[in-house]
Amino acid sequence: MKKSIVVFEVEGGSDKHFDGHRKDTMPIVNSINDAGWQAEVVYYRPEWTEGLFEYVSENFDGYISRVNPGNIPGGERGYFDLLTRLSEAGLVGMSTPEEMMAYGAKDALVKLSQTDLVPSDTEAYYDVETFHKVFPTSLSFGERVLKQNRGSTGSGIWRVQLVDKELAASIEPGTALPLDTEIKCTEAVDNHTEVRKLGEFMDFCDQYIIGDNGMLVDMRFMPRIVEGEIRILLVGPHPVFVVHKKPAEGGDNFSATLFSGAKYTYDKPEQWQELIDLFADARPVIAEKLGGDNIPLIWTADFMLGDVVDGKDTYVLGEINCSCVGFTSELDMGIQQLVASEAIKRIEEFAQLTV
Ligand SMILES: Nc1ncnc2c1ncn2[C@@H]1O[C@H](COP(=O)(O)OP(=O)(O)O)[C@@H](O)[C@H]1O
Ligand SMILES: [Mg+2]
Repeated sequence: MKKSIVVFEVEGGSDKHFDGHRKDTMPIVNSINDAGWQAEVVYYRPEWTEGLFEYVSENFDGYISRVNPGNIPGGERGYFDLLTRLSEAGLVGMSTPEEMMAYGAKDALVKLSQTDLVPSDTEAYYDVETFHKVFPTSLSFGERVLKQNRGSTGSGIWRVQLVDKELAASIEPGTALPLDTEIKCTEAVDNHTEVRKLGEFMDFCDQYIIGDNGMLVDMRFMPRIVEGEIRILLVGPHPVFVVHKKPAEGGDNFSATLFSGAKYTYDKPEQWQELIDLFADARPVIAEKLGGDNIPLIWTADFMLGDVVDGKDTYVLGEINCSCVGFTSELDMGIQQLVASEAIKRIEEFAQLTV
């Protein structure tokens, strides 16, 4: 073992500090060094791929990827290929492209829809024909949220409801709504609302399905989102803190993103013990359904409140993020040390397996 870990970043972007790195990157590097290992940051550029492969495969036992798939020069494919080659060369990936896609893609929800974590009527559309065929019927069951796969700022996340409340109350569930039905569409990026015709809106949404990793997830609207979204941040298996994100009040507002005006409160995991326990119990099922043996190194799971059953809140999973989860505003919590020890532990365990 070389006892050394490389951290991948890309150059530039609004997530960078004046030292050129993400604000939480050097704290991770320093914590790895403090633990008696070595860590170094390298930048990915497509034209450096061969040099990077040689350097990294010769000098490191594992990599930590701190790159947002939406911001990779030359697209994610070249970067992901490099990471895959590094795994094949014996490095421990934190995380591998497969793990990032399995956990981070929006259709993870669909893969979990047969568990208690996600409503069973959650669907994903991978081609525009199926979307146009199924969605008019899906909407007859009640308000829906359509989610695009790319981005993470609420852009392309649409709450869809019928304008005509009487129609909404009288429609027989399971009947396709006519394409000229007026719908109210609210986008999570800024909670703005547009009145549109169903058919025209579906045409507009085709852009989310077309292209690499395109898809639309169709999920029932959870009305208790107004009470807030509850985010658990985890380092490997350890829940570190909980953020309670309450959407701005009023109108059709439903977005828990900062930009849309949601208010964030940081809580200790113990303040949400029931949810934490539920999630810990569900983790083996999640690993089984999402197909990765390795849970991400730094990741988040976002929940919404569901129905009250037997006097108790239930929780519904809204999304998992694992590609580039930051903790820049929580550097005083010691998360970087936890990240360092978890990363080192994974490499040591891997080394034992391969002796
Ligand atoms: N099923 C739903 N019911 C109610 N609100 C939802 C639902 N799904 C998402 N939202 C709201 O939309 C926001 C953005 O959706 P999310 O799935 O987190 O996408 P993004 O990747 O853009 O963060 C969430 O933070 C939440 O406020
Ligand atoms: Mg989100």
